[in-house]
Amino acid sequence: MDLHKCRKITWAIVSFIIFFSFSEESKAYDHASLEAFVRDKANREIAKPRTGTFYNIPLPSNFSGMKFSVLRVRSGSLRLRGGNYSHFNLPPMIKPEPHVERIAIVFENFGNWSSRYYDVPNHTMVTPVLSLMAYNTSEAGLVLSQRLNLSIPEKNPIKVRFFRSWVHGKRGEKPICAKLGNDGRLVGLKNMSEPFVCEIRSEGHYTLVVPSLEEAKDKGQKDNNRTRWIVVLGIGSGLIVLLFVVFVFVCVKVMKRRKIQKMEEKSEKDVIIGEFWVGQSKMPAASMVRTQPALEN
Ligand SMILES: *[C@@H]1O[C@H](CO)[C@@H](O)[C@H](O)[C@H]1NC(C)=O
Ligand SMILES: *[C@@H]1O[C@H](CO)[C@@H](O)[C@H](O)[C@H]1NC(C)=O
Ligand SMILES: *[C@@H]1O[C@H](CO)[C@@H](O)[C@H](O)[C@H]1NC(C)=O
Ligand SMILES: *[C@@H]1O[C@H](CO)[C@@H](O)[C@H](O)[C@H]1NC(C)=O
Ligand SMILES: *[C@@H]1O[C@H](CO)[C@@H](O)[C@H](O)[C@H]1NC(C)=O
Ligand SMILES: *[C@@H]1O[C@H](CO)[C@@H](O)[C@H](O)[C@H]1NC(C)=O
Repeated sequence: MDLHKCRKITWAIVSFIIFFSFSEESKAYDHASLEAFVRDKANREIAKPRTGTFYNIPLPSNFSGMKFSVLRVRSGSLRLRGGNYSHFNLPPMIKPEPHVERIAIVFENFGNWSSRYYDVPNHTMVTPVLSLMAYNTSEAGLVLSQRLNLSIPEKNPIKVRFFRSWVHGKRGEKPICAKLGNDGRLVGLKNMSEPFVCEIRSEGHYTLVVPSLEEAKDKGQKDNNRTRWIVVLGIGSGLIVLLFVVFVFVCVKVMKRRKIQKMEEKSEKDVIIGEFWVGQSKMPAASMVRTQPALEN
């Protein structure tokens, strides 16, 4: 095995590992990357946004089924009047935390994508997930990356209104409100305050669900399968890394042997060997570095 081959195979293994890790990442439906994508779209596509105007955020065709919209509003106006936007009734006295002069509120409707991004264990989602999120805003960008919390009056919460016609599933089952986290997981459950209305006391992601006992079993199976896959993947990548280490070891050996061979050839000619040993004896130069740290004073 020569040096050239060594290098080639090393590259092949490295690129395989890189490809492997990338393809693993791109599979997940991750809300954080969606959020960044949508924020970027809003900032690019909505030219000269006006305060108080509600805009739909244009999305590429591979997002068809989802709906995102944005509103920039003065915090003072929101506190004084509230407002009704998308599926949300915002009462007066809502305040952003920390305080900013104006905020951008992003409304999301995940439509038929809801179950790709969110999961409620032991329940079935019967409506799309609706979200409300607040961000800082400026002249430079309609939706800045800084998320804001909303302080919502205890006695007068925000209401999310789901369309009755959205609700699918068995008749006669009373849905309950589910709050979901950014990571797609369930945060909490609560009864509806009136038919198809959820009262919410924080920004976030909401949907209606019904309990499902049968799907719980399926889910458990799925989770089991998933764990099995993760184990297989883990062992697989471990083996690849091990292979790589062994390979590098062999390469280094080969290179060393080559060097020695060359040196032997050279020493036979008795020319450069002196230089090599001078190079080795330069090593004690490291002691100079040790005297340097005068910074301690
Ligand atoms: C749609 O395509 C863009 C790239 O053009 C990609 O960033 C985005 O993740 C895709 N959307 C979905 C929902 O997969
Ligand atoms: C959602 O529905 C649209 C059509 O309205 C379709 O193009 C899209 O592929 C669907 N998305 C998913 C995740 O099923
Ligand atoms: C929002 O709608 C509710 C009824 O759904 C109404 O009572 C309230 O006055 C409306 N608020 C604004 C600011 O229009
Ligand atoms: C779902 O139900 C199963 C059994 O009915 C239970 O063991 C499990 O803890 C439940 N999961 C959650 C997240 O509540
Ligand atoms: C919000 O953005 C504005 C404009 O960029 C900035 O001046 C302000 O400090 C930001 N507010 C907070 C709380 O970071
Ligand atoms: C929700 O409603 C059911 C009846 O539909 C009731 O039994 C339960 O106690 C309620 N839960 C809460 C937290 O109010």
